[in-house]
Amino acid sequence: MAADPATALALLAEGRIEVHGRLTDASNAVLYCTAALDGLTAPCVYKPVAGERPLWDFPDGTLAGREVAAYELAAATGWALVPPTVLRDGPHGPGMLQLWVEPDEDAPELLALQDPAGPEEGWLPIVRAEVAEGRTALLVHRDDERLRRLAVLDAVLNNADRKGGHWIPAADGRIYGIDHGVTFNTEGKLRTLLWGWAEQPLTAEALHVLARLAADLDGPLAERLRPHLTPAELDATRARTALLRRTGRHPLPSPDWPSIPWPPV
Ligand SMILES: Nc1ncnc2c1ncn2[C@@H]1O[C@H](COP(=O)(O)OP(=O)(O)O)[C@@H](O)[C@H]1O
Ligand SMILES: [Mg+2]
Repeated sequence: MAADPATALALLAEGRIEVHGRLTDASNAVLYCTAALDGLTAPCVYKPVAGERPLWDFPDGTLAGREVAAYELAAATGWALVPPTVLRDGPHGPGMLQLWVEPDEDAPELLALQDPAGPEEGWLPIVRAEVAEGRTALLVHRDDERLRRLAVLDAVLNNADRKGGHWIPAADGRIYGIDHGVTFNTEGKLRTLLWGWAEQPLTAEALHVLARLAADLDGPLAERLRPHLTPAELDATRARTALLRRTGRHPLPSPDWPSIPWPPV
């Protein structure tokens, strides 16, 4: 279903929603649902705006719209890194509805704690962490091209919450990012585990995607983002895209902002 976004979007936007339960590890109201339309049924999450916990640094009632904006921008990259997401009315009022991604329990771990002298081959360092009385370990993520694309996407989104639980390896071999409520702030808030490529040159593929994105942000994509973002937030998105293209490098953590989500999962 995630591979067929047009069908998924129609199902999410127009399907009949049935709520089955509530995700208990969530800080906002996150409801596990199914959406049904024309004989098709798909699992999804529904996050009603009324269930959004107020935050000091994001205007109230805007998180669901930011999730949809994150989907729209991610879709424009062509990387299919965010499951289809729509804004619509539901049983608890307006909210976002997003296709459920079934985690692949057999997928290899993408995060690990390794010897501080590391990282091992195929892994990249995030941060040294104290794990017990005086003992340190190196938190690492895999050197994985899917994660690297997600790091580029997050830099454009200004994602303030890319912890380990916010990407899901699926059975189709893809990784899907979720929980994009705290994105698109005008202030730099990039908080992520994916620092393994910090300051390294962007791949030629990423630069190509960013060039297309820059044009799209002055065209059709802007129209799709406008309902969800302020003009200043849209401008800041253009500016982040331009900066990435100008430097040609992955960003570095900001010294003025906690750049690593803690706890990391
Ligand atoms: N599209 C999705 N597919 C599969 N699981 C999801 C999806 N969206 C959310 N979840 C699950 O629900 C949990 C809470 O959702 P999340 O978006 O992180 O909410 P919150 O904003 O409250 O942190 C996630 O940690 C994840 O386990
Ligand atoms: Mg979350």
